[in-house]
Amino acid sequence: MNTPIWRSQRGFLLAVIGSAIGLGNLWRFPYIAYENGGGAFLLPYVLAMLAIGLPILVLEFAFGHRYRARAPQAFQQLKRQFGWLGWFQVCLAGVIALYYSVILAWVLSFFGYAFDQAWGIDTNFFFFRDYLHLYPKTELQHWYAPQWHIVVSLLGVWGICFAILALGLNKGLEQISRYATPIFMGLILVLTVRVCFLSGAWSGIAHFFTPDFHSLTSPKVWSAAFGQVFFSLGVGLSVMIAYASFLPQKTNLNGSALTVVVANGVFSLICAVLVFGMLGVLAHTNSQPFENVVTAGIGLAFVAIPAAINLLPMPTVVGPLFFFGLFLIGLTSQLSLLQAVVAPLQDRRENTSPLKISGGICAVGSVLAIFLTGSNGILLIDILDFFANQLALVFSGLMELLVIAWLYPIKDLRAYSDAHSHWRLPSGIDPCLKVLCPIILVLLLFGHAMETLLKGYAHYSLWDNLLFGGGCLLLLFVSAIWLGRKSQ
Ligand code: PHE
Repeated sequence: MNTPIWRSQRGFLLAVIGSAIGLGNLWRFPYIAYENGGGAFLLPYVLAMLAIGLPILVLEFAFGHRYRARAPQAFQQLKRQFGWLGWFQVCLAGVIALYYSVILAWVLSFFGYAFDQAWGIDTNFFFFRDYLHLYPKTELQHWYAPQWHIVVSLLGVWGICFAILALGLNKGLEQISRYATPIFMGLILVLTVRVCFLSGAWSGIAHFFTPDFHSLTSPKVWSAAFGQVFFSLGVGLSVMIAYASFLPQKTNLNGSALTVVVANGVFSLICAVLVFGMLGVLAHTNSQPFENVVTAGIGLAFVAIPAAINLLPMPTVVGPLFFFGLFLIGLTSQLSLLQAVVAPLQDRRENTSPLKISGGICAVGSVLAIFLTGSNGILLIDILDFFANQLALVFSGLMELLVIAWLYPIKDLRAYSDAHSHWRLPSGIDPCLKVLCPIILVLLLFGHAMETLLKGYAHYSLWDNLLFGGGCLLLLFVSAIWLGRKSQ
């Protein structure tokens, strides 16, 4: 089999960091941390990184490298019956890639709007009404009609993805990650330093860091920390297994995992300083209480940040730069998800040209994603995101741990990882992977599943939960089992 190989360790590292650092660092981490205890959230976050993020990443790197195969084939080699788990991860990566591409399309549109701040003064109205056409009465079941101004950006996103995938691993993904990741980091650093010098910035940053230690007693806060670590590192999705399978024999697995975890953690913090600095400037300039300018979720990137850009010096330069950086870093995450889908299909169809496989995936992906551009799109994305991340992803991580850590002598996998690294892992990682991580994931999954079964997700009706959330889970399981059977 002609498996591509990363040209350099640096290229691999930048690609993994590019996958981990994404839109989530800018819009997810800051508000999740703020809502869950501010500065005090850093404690569960760091613990979650060390107790679960790092060990699982090491495990995935060692597993992918040891078997030199993508997730479905690697699981199948471990035990024939578990090919479906690999396909489950691949299909889940595909679902996330679908809605991630739509958010990227919004970023691309906003990159265009940033040149003349077309979003005006009322950025909230602009994003939800003028751009998304979301009305207070819009419900999930209505308004699938694609909105062409979003579809154009969406096709742009898929077109760019196809062009990069078609170039192959080295000339495409590796090359783009080499530039995109450092460019984004540089841009964000420069912006952060600039924002720190504006009036009001430090009061915003102080709001973020003010610890609410009381919050640490709430299981919700711990669950948020573990969820964020999972989404951010992209474990349980076959992405890291595929990336590690492209490594040459001589490599540094443990060092790479540690570098990625540290880079991602530090960068999340820098993004939080930037976002809260901007919000501080916004509150100060509009003489509003800080609490009024914080918006949760997606609104942060598309409402609060454009409003803050309006107030920065040289907004016509800063605005496009910011959204360009955001697009680049989101693109490397999107490409990692797509690579995780394309690579195992390529393994199965060795005689089909890679161009055809990438083209097929991008064509199907773009057509399906168009259904998320209607005026109910953001609601669909919200519900898909919840079911994919909080339920399917945690389930996938749990199964992966049970299968790999219990079926493969974990000591041997650690020895393998050590033999391909510059330093050795502490032996404490074995009980962590075999017992501690599964227990945490069982608790997380149980908590989320019970809450969803009893109350449903957010304000959506039971029907919506069943149709869109339950339907998505069902489809994932059916496709995974079917693909697993077919490839046995
Ligand atoms: N980690 C990326 C982000 O934070 C998203 C992502 C998830 C990428 C899963 C790859 C795999 O935006």
